[in-house]
Amino acid sequence: MTKINCLNPIAACGLDMLTDNYEMTDTMAEADAVLVRSAVMHDMDLPEHLLAIARAGAGVNNIPLEKCADQGIVVFNTPGANANGVKELVIASMLLAARDITGGIQWCQENKGDAGVAKSAEKAKKAFAGTEIKGKKLGIIGLGAIGVLVANAANRLGMDVYGCDPYLSVEHALNMSRDVTMVKTNEELYAMCDYITVHVPLLDSTKGMFNKEAFAKMKDGVVLLNFSRDTLVNEEDIKEALESGRVGRYVVDFPNPTTVNLPNTTVTPHLGASTQESEDNCAKLAVREIRDFIENGNIKNSVNYPNCDAGVCSTEGRITICHKNVPNMLSRFTALFSKDGVNIETMVTKSRGDYAYTILDICSSSTDQVVKELESLSNVIRVRVIK
Ligand code: MLT
Repeated sequence: MTKINCLNPIAACGLDMLTDNYEMTDTMAEADAVLVRSAVMHDMDLPEHLLAIARAGAGVNNIPLEKCADQGIVVFNTPGANANGVKELVIASMLLAARDITGGIQWCQENKGDAGVAKSAEKAKKAFAGTEIKGKKLGIIGLGAIGVLVANAANRLGMDVYGCDPYLSVEHALNMSRDVTMVKTNEELYAMCDYITVHVPLLDSTKGMFNKEAFAKMKDGVVLLNFSRDTLVNEEDIKEALESGRVGRYVVDFPNPTTVNLPNTTVTPHLGASTQESEDNCAKLAVREIRDFIENGNIKNSVNYPNCDAGVCSTEGRITICHKNVPNMLSRFTALFSKDGVNIETMVTKSRGDYAYTILDICSSSTDQVVKELESLSNVIRVRVIK
């Protein structure tokens, strides 16, 4: 029985995909796998037998990826599963920034007791007039699943769309409208765009990337949209830029004691992926990833181990190994199998940074001896017998 600890509410349609071979536990010490949305896991004690963590969402800054990799815990996210939900909110936010829709709604509420409201509205409305987004220049930093959907939707709304992403994948490039102009540097976007939206992960290299140097290169009155993570933006610097008018409006989906008090800022309570469809998609993908890993040892959409897929095992046995990405590991593995007279039918191995993962399909199910020997090799992190 595989025990799953679900740290946040996860859509039922995902949990329903767990078969009778799985049971839920509230105790981390018992967990073989974890499902998580926003719970911060950095200070949690992770049991030695914990195999996997799946985040129902894209960002993984709430999970200690390196510590997990060192313990042989494979961490998954669900890229693209909530991209449409986020895209729709980005588009809505541009419209809210362009026209004072919320001010207008508030005015109607404040005047709901006025029998002459229809007439006074015609006078009052000029205070809420705005501009259109059609024809405006939108710069998108980060063209992953979300960035590409935003680019295509904005292009269809008549915006002039520019994108910057040095890591653009072939898949995302193929899905992107040809009307999107690619630029090589963020600075090129800063110089010409009326709206800038950011869709990059929070990493040491991206933290605080929107700072006073960046704001100095932007057009006066630019609208900055942040549906990625609050700390991508230096909050002292954006406060200054908003006060001076260099940044005309900041739209941020992450309330914190600073963002909620910034001038000319629209703050939403981390609503980007809060749609039924996104929550269902994330839950289903997270559970699919956990099941494929637990049942077959396959890794898809990991953020700390390489993706490695050998399909469903059709031989007598399958062994998987989490190990360090150092020379001679494979020859040492195969030497052990050959010494113990175990024939390897298929071997799939992949590496990512300092870590690697190997799946071996073998013609034997009695593997105790070879497993013990594999475990004793230096730079082997975890050995699992799948069958
Ligand atoms: C994400 O990283 O995809 C979002 O933060 C998801 C969420 O709202 O949980």
